[in-house]
Amino acid sequence: MEFQATPHNNDKLSSILKNIEELNHLKDIDTILDKILFEARQLSNADAGSIFIVDEQKLRFGYVHNDTLFKEDESNEAIYVDFTLPVNDKSIVGYVASTCDTLVIDDAYQIPSDRPYTFNDMYDHKSGYTTKSILTIPLMTFHDKLVGVMQLINAKEDGRIIPFSKESQALVPLFANNAGVAIDRGIMNREMILRMVRMAELRDPTETGAHVLRVGAYSAEIYHQWAIKHGIDIQEMKRKKDLIRLAAMLHDVGKVGIPDKILKKPDKLSDQEFNEMKWHTVYGGRLFINQTSNLDKMSMDITLNHHERWAGGGYPGRINDIMMPEITMGDPKKVDEIPLSARIVALADVFDALTSSRSYKSPWSDDDAMEKIESESGKHFDPEIVTIFFKIFPVIKAIRNKYREQA
Ligand code: C2E
Ligand code: SIN
Ligand code: SIN
Ligand code: FE
Ligand code: FE
Repeated sequence: MEFQATPHNNDKLSSILKNIEELNHLKDIDTILDKILFEARQLSNADAGSIFIVDEQKLRFGYVHNDTLFKEDESNEAIYVDFTLPVNDKSIVGYVASTCDTLVIDDAYQIPSDRPYTFNDMYDHKSGYTTKSILTIPLMTFHDKLVGVMQLINAKEDGRIIPFSKESQALVPLFANNAGVAIDRGIMNREMILRMVRMAELRDPTETGAHVLRVGAYSAEIYHQWAIKHGIDIQEMKRKKDLIRLAAMLHDVGKVGIPDKILKKPDKLSDQEFNEMKWHTVYGGRLFINQTSNLDKMSMDITLNHHERWAGGGYPGRINDIMMPEITMGDPKKVDEIPLSARIVALADVFDALTSSRSYKSPWSDDDAMEKIESESGKHFDPEIVTIFFKIFPVIKAIRNKYREQA
């Protein structure tokens, strides 16, 4: 495909370069996918789009935007839908993954019958959306490894849907190569965190990968709503949402410091054992004492404070120097002395612990867990966080469905 640098294109090119620079500050795969879709849709004036990620021999749905169906400031269940497509030429996305070539379709409902792929209109039927023009692009790393496929839908001009322009067909693939590299890094970051968690999990069977992915996603979505409600700038919101998702996944890494006989006890803990267990907050905080990034700082806030209670009475309380070997638990913290991120994770963690099975208890029903959380509003939990949690409960359920316990 020909590509000529006109002055107009130069503007777009420098905006691509700026976006790549910004991408490099993002850490989690979900934030990276959100950013890539946003920028690719801006470049091509697309109404909607989605990204699929290569996962073993399949394509796993990763993220979706749709300006017509949902707004950016709403929490949305659609991004937590879980399904895969095979890499073969039957679907549009599968075809692009197997050929590694960009595919341009002007009308999804007029695909010539000699093509191997067909348009799956199930999503249109379910949502009432009408797909017309589609630009589907392979996402590669610089080493020509396929990491995913991006699909942009319904290019718009003056409110009408038009075919994707020649310019979009040239510019979006340029951006896509760098996007591929960013995605690769985002997946590695999440894998690295899961690996840290697995080190703890080897010892604590309750701290599963699925539990931490759920607590991370619940926390990210609760924060999203909190930030909208407080008028936080959307870019700032996305940066913090990125951090809290990863840092929340690490809330219990300090359990690596707890002896097996306590951690793996299939029974209620004695008072003395529970007192020892409380140290997992301090041990966790110590892992992040050398704060070289905002992620380290938030991880410290969360590991240390996720068992504090809004009205006081939590642990470990105020501590002057967490590196002191013989510290005693401090006076309890209260209200906004507890960092916001920790107040959010406190609720996310308890909800997930209540509704999961533990060696010492059966899972609670949603109704029982919600009743408990409601009754602890203003006591254990920040009442504002409780309100937000109930408001986004459909999203919470979608997250739980995506990150199920592996049998
Ligand atoms: P966890 O299992 O991740 O639980 C996190 C928090 O969820 C708990 O913090 C508690 O606030 C809440 N939670 C979990 N299960 C229940 C429950 O059955 N009823 C009620 N009302 N709340 C529940 P907490 O209590 O500070 O415990 C921290 C960690 O200590 C727990 O993390 C778990 O690993 C361990 N633990 C707590 N109690 C026991 C126990 O009786 N037996 C064993 N083996 N471990 C326990
Ligand atoms: C996801 O957003 O969960 C898909 C990417 C991944 O493998 O983490
Ligand atoms: C708050 O505590 O209400 C917001 C400040 C923060 O912890 O980021
Ligand atoms: Fe904990
Ligand atoms: Fe936990």
